Amino acid sequence: MWKKLICALVLAAFLGLQTVNGLYCYTCDSPSSCRSPTSQYCNVQTANTTSGWLRRIHSNVPSIVENSFKCLNLTYYYSQNNVKTQEILGCYYSSIPVCYLSLNVTNSYDWAKYCNTCNYDNCNRNPAGTLSKSSFTIVSSALLLILAKIFV
Ligand SMILES: *[C@@H]1O[C@H](CO)[C@@H](O)[C@H](O)[C@H]1NC(C)=O
Ligand SMILES: *[C@@H]1O[C@H](CO)[C@@H](O)[C@H](O)[C@H]1NC(C)=O
Ligand SMILES: *[C@@H]1O[C@H](CO)[C@@H](O)[C@H](O)[C@H]1NC(C)=O
Repeated sequence: MWKKLICALVLAAFLGLQTVNGLYCYTCDSPSSCRSPTSQYCNVQTANTTSGWLRRIHSNVPSIVENSFKCLNLTYYYSQNNVKTQEILGCYYSSIPVCYLSLNVTNSYDWAKYCNTCNYDNCNRNPAGTLSKSSFTIVSSALLLILAKIFV
């Protein structure tokens, strides 16, 4: 009985840790640095940094500070030749409408935009981290099954 209970507690703690953990996002601020982005923990510092990067090329970035974060990949490129002019990856305050900001850079009228936001660890890199996401889900489901077995 005790063995089962401890087993269950350890598993529950593991599952809990996985979901309570904060968010990590790939972070970089130019097409060249985005060739090897680093993964950063989302907090007020890293989200503020992203707001600053967004402000370099957009006129209407709101001065939001909050404790809710998501990951971003915002890329501008010339549609004629797919050459990237701007690439911003990072954690951002989730109330900022990052995909709907107004560009205020001269000659940006012919830039095309790619914008992707997401909210699980390191999901903002291409190809997106779908593999690690689904394998995590599989591990979680397996553990839940084991938990269920212990108690039923
Ligand atoms: C984040 O930005 C806000 C507004 O500019 C500022 O008040 C705050 O001190 C900054 N926080 C950090 C940790 O940089
Ligand atoms: C765009 O607007 C922001 C905020 O008003 C400003 O800080 C920035 O210098 C502007 N950038 C350009 C290129 O005009
Ligand atoms: C960001 O998105 C663009 C457009 O899909 C993609 O070309 C680029 O590789 C992405 N950045 C990273 C670091 O994955």
